[in-house]
Amino acid sequence: PAQNAADGPFPKAELHLHIEGTLEPELAFALAERNGVTLPYATEDELRRAYSFSDLQSFLNLYYALMAVLRTEDDFADLTHAYLARAQAQGVRHAEIFFDPQAHTARGVPVGTVIEGLTRALDTAEERYGITTRLIMCFLRDESAESALATFEAARPYLDRITAVGLDSAEVGHPPSKFAEVYALAREAGLKCVAHAGEEGPPSYVWEALDVLGVDRVDHGVRCLEDEKLVARLVADQVPLTVCPLSNVRLRVIGELADHPLPAMLEAGLLVTVNSDDPAYFGGYADDNFTAVRDALNLDEETLRTLARNSFRASFLDEPTREAYL
Ligand code: ADE
Ligand code: ZN
Repeated sequence: PAQNAADGPFPKAELHLHIEGTLEPELAFALAERNGVTLPYATEDELRRAYSFSDLQSFLNLYYALMAVLRTEDDFADLTHAYLARAQAQGVRHAEIFFDPQAHTARGVPVGTVIEGLTRALDTAEERYGITTRLIMCFLRDESAESALATFEAARPYLDRITAVGLDSAEVGHPPSKFAEVYALAREAGLKCVAHAGEEGPPSYVWEALDVLGVDRVDHGVRCLEDEKLVARLVADQVPLTVCPLSNVRLRVIGELADHPLPAMLEAGLLVTVNSDDPAYFGGYADDNFTAVRDALNLDEETLRTLARNSFRASFLDEPTREAYL
């Protein structure tokens, strides 16, 4: 259906969103209070002032530290409801949501608590927010391959709630091939596969994600542009790339938004989508990212529509539902 500004943000799918990265300072302090956790920041403002990052690792340090407030099923449900309400206001109709089980099990929170809490909220998403959802369980690549395998086995009883596995955290030094075994198990179990690659890591990591892990999508992937043959492969197979423009600026993957390679990626014929990554930390949710690239890169209406259409094309929605959006 035709949309104009008066209808609000146009419909889109969010395909790269870490639920832990939606933890806003306000909710972090509320949960800290509820759980008797002391944060190393006195006020929300003081916390917000810490959101100045020099690279991926400097962000991850704060991201993992703030997760200390997430302890109970209720906490994960409340976090997810807060995200869904914001996503609805941004025109998100479908969300494929990452979570990091090892970031919680390492603190003594069982994987079942995490998944039960998340799914309790997600089970209401269609009715309450008009958003269909999928869950993607990510392995922390800076942990061992054995830890990923143990996490997968611990999550086996819950695999009916999980659509795909993913790979995130500190990229450089942790190539996708390290996780070949757990990805093979995930595929055997009927799950889809995605992986962060080519954010800070080199093009060779994108090749490995494709050829060793057999991913259905690449998260970020912006560094693919350094390798012509890789671009040709991604174009030929129409492998989706979930690009996160505001994240790329805040983590200094690129200089400023006006220099973002998004237009070059579209021009090359890559199946690019626009996403928010960790919106509580990077200054914007899904439509905020669309608006920011529109303004910084002078994207026209047709390009924005292509990006929105790509987000559904690249989704794990069933074929008829996906087609209905295109
Ligand atoms: N975990 C949360 N956000 C991430 C990102 N942008 N890259 C890698 N790991 C992450
Ligand atoms: Zn990410």
